[in-house]
Amino acid sequence: MKKEIAFIFDLDGVIVDTAKYHFLAWRNLANELSFEFTEKHNELLKGVSRVRSLEILLSIGNVTLTEAQKQTYLVKKNTEYLGYVNQMTAEEILPGINQLLDFLDQNNIKYALGSASKNAPLILEKVGLYNRFSAIVDGNDVSKAKPDPEVFLIGAKKLNMKPENCIVVEDAIAGVEAANTANMVSIGIGDAELLKEATYILNDTSGFTTDFLQKILN
Ligand code: BG6
Ligand code: MG
Repeated sequence: MKKEIAFIFDLDGVIVDTAKYHFLAWRNLANELSFEFTEKHNELLKGVSRVRSLEILLSIGNVTLTEAQKQTYLVKKNTEYLGYVNQMTAEEILPGINQLLDFLDQNNIKYALGSASKNAPLILEKVGLYNRFSAIVDGNDVSKAKPDPEVFLIGAKKLNMKPENCIVVEDAIAGVEAANTANMVSIGIGDAELLKEATYILNDTSGFTTDFLQKILN
């Protein structure tokens, strides 16, 4: 390996597929407010904070709520979401992720978490990955949400790495934008058209083959 590098991982949609649980909880809330919420709508909430997600959801349904009502719905949504999260096990780690973390460990490459989720530490504990990360930056640590680069810049700092030597793995457009603004290398996971701003794009996490890793690290 030519230079010291580090990885910063998004959580939802990269390490685990929690987007499906966010979707179920947001859809129930929308149905309660008498409007439809589709998987396509759900794409707009990926990488976005909980509060901002509610705002987007309400604009989809053209619904106006008081601040107090918003707080009630935010708690309700998160309570339902946590019901799913509490059932999670290591089985839900996405394909290729355990092998990727093993590869990074074997090559002494540090890695951090950079997630918008306030539930990130709990999810990592549930799937047994909490202790593997050198640093965890989550929704409780940031004041500015992605696409602001704050979450990744804090991650780089915690790893004691320069931003340009960090590689971010992201499934959200906002996350790829945040990584690029932070002057980091970005690996987009998902639709190549949506994530076209990423430095590299993989269809899914099983694309982290040794060949791919050797290519990007050399
Ligand atoms: C992001 C998800 O990782 O975390 C978003 O992609 C979610 O969909 C956000 O809204 C906040 O998550 P939480 O767990 O704090 O509600
Ligand atoms: Mg994500």
